[in-house]
This record gives sequence, C-alpha cells and structure tokens, in this order.
Amino acid sequence: MSRRRQIYEGKAKILYEGPEPGTIIQYFKDDATAFNAEKKGTINGKGVINNRISEHIFTLLGHIGIPSHFIRRLNMREQLVKQVEIVPIEVIVRNVAAGSLSKRLGIEEGTPLPHTLLEYCYKDDALGDPLVAEEHIACFGWASQEEMQDISAMAIRINDFMAGMFAGIGIKLIDFKLEFGRVFEGDFSRIILADEISPDGCRLWDIETNEKLDKDRFRRDLGGEAEAYQEVARRLGLFPEGVSEVLDLNSERKKRGK
Ligand code: TMP
Ligand code: ASP
Repeated sequence: MSRRRQIYEGKAKILYEGPEPGTIIQYFKDDATAFNAEKKGTINGKGVINNRISEHIFTLLGHIGIPSHFIRRLNMREQLVKQVEIVPIEVIVRNVAAGSLSKRLGIEEGTPLPHTLLEYCYKDDALGDPLVAEEHIACFGWASQEEMQDISAMAIRINDFMAGMFAGIGIKLIDFKLEFGRVFEGDFSRIILADEISPDGCRLWDIETNEKLDKDRFRRDLGGEAEAYQEVARRLGLFPEGVSEVLDLNSERKKRGK
C-alpha cells in the first residue's frame, strides 16, 4: 500500500487523505466488532463486499436525488469520498422490531412496527453511543433543527427506496443505521449522506425463511457470516464475475505481498 497519510482508523474502516483537498479514501477492513467493540473478529472478504454494496446503494440513492459523500470506487477495498464534518448522531431507521428496541421495550423481534421509527444515538464510543432525543440534539447543538429536518426527510426517503430494493430480491429490511455529514460551501453548509450502507449496519432477513443475512450472524454467534454477506451481494447482482473468484483471499494476500 502506498505511503499516504492515515487520518483515522475506525472499527471497520480506515480513512486516508485523498488525492485532492476535500477528498478522503475509505478503506474497508474485514474486521468486525459488536457491542461497542467488546466482541472482535474478522469476516473474510467483508471489506470487499461492503465496499461494493455501499457503492451500489449510494449510486442508486444518487439517482433519486440523495446527495452523498460517495465519489467513486477506486479498487476492491477503497472508495474516494468527499471529506465531511460528521454529524455526531447515528440515525437508526426501523421497520420491524429487533435488537436494542426489542430489548428496551419488550417487543418480540420480528413484530412489524405501526410505522417507520427513527431513533438517534449520540456517537461517543466511551459512552456506548447512547440513545438520545431530538431535544438533546438541539440542546447540546449536535445538529441544528434545520439540519435535523433534512436528516429525517432523507432517512425516510432512503428507507422507502431501500425497503423496495431489498423486497425485490427477497429480503426484508428490518432496520439500519445512517450517518450524515456537513459539507461547507462558502458561508453555508449542507447535509449529505456519509459513512457506508452495508450488512454491517442493516438487519436483512430473507423474506421466505427469516434467515438473517447481516452482522447479527456475527453478533449472535450464528456462523455463516461471510456467506450471508456474499448472498446479499449476489442477490443485488454485484460480482457478476462470481463472488468466490473475486474473494479469492489467498491470491489477494499474495498480491499485497503478505
Ligand atoms: P440496534 O438494534 O443494536 O440498536 O441496531 C439497530 C440497527 O442499527 C442495526 O441494523 C445495526 C445498526 N447499528 C450499527 O450499524 N451500529 C451501531 O453502533 C448500532 C448501535 C446499530
Ligand atoms: N455497535 C456496532 C454494531 O454492533 C459495532 C460496535 O459497536 O463495535 O454494529
């Protein structure tokens, strides 16, 4: 790998300085964590698959007018994105009860919600990304009221689009997480979609069997996580050359000289 400046290393990605000012390179790792990194592991080929799935979804969202940081995919594990100031809020969109919502409110997993629910978590690993109300976001100035309007409107449109896209390939979109960022244009800033959309941050269940095709396979020790990610990519029509050929991890390691 070339000697470029690393800006940040997160749990699933590394950010490097991009080739032009205002750009960043996102490198997708195979590392997987859960429960605020209490559980750590790797999912072979995850980075390659998430890079491709996220590229696909961000590109389609661009076609329906959702602005995002995505510029283009550079290679198997990297994409070029616009540099943003990340809004320190994780936006959780839920269609069906699962995970922390089920636990918190005692609603059985798999119960459809009366309508789409948006939740907000304050991005702070030390605090374990606590759930917060819009009032907290306004009170502490994490985002303005106007920005929250843009964020919630985009989240609902993204959900409508993605729920339809996944239904078309036999997958139920249970819930997912989004992150947004600010780009500055002169004295003004605007909100765009950032981070990634992949089976790491979505719950995806097979429509017929309710089989989990997402990171819950890792979180809950169900096994078959790499195969589940591959299945999502395959159904999305990605890797027409064959997922297993592209994910020939041994030859990839050889190429990197490891
Ligand atoms: P939760 O049920 O654990 O709150 O998660 C809801 C959805 O958001 C689930 O699809 C996983 C995703 N998510 C992340 O991607 N990162 C996170 O830090 C959290 C808490 C959730
Ligand atoms: N909370 C994230 C997840 O479970 C990962 C982590 O916190 O380590 O998806």
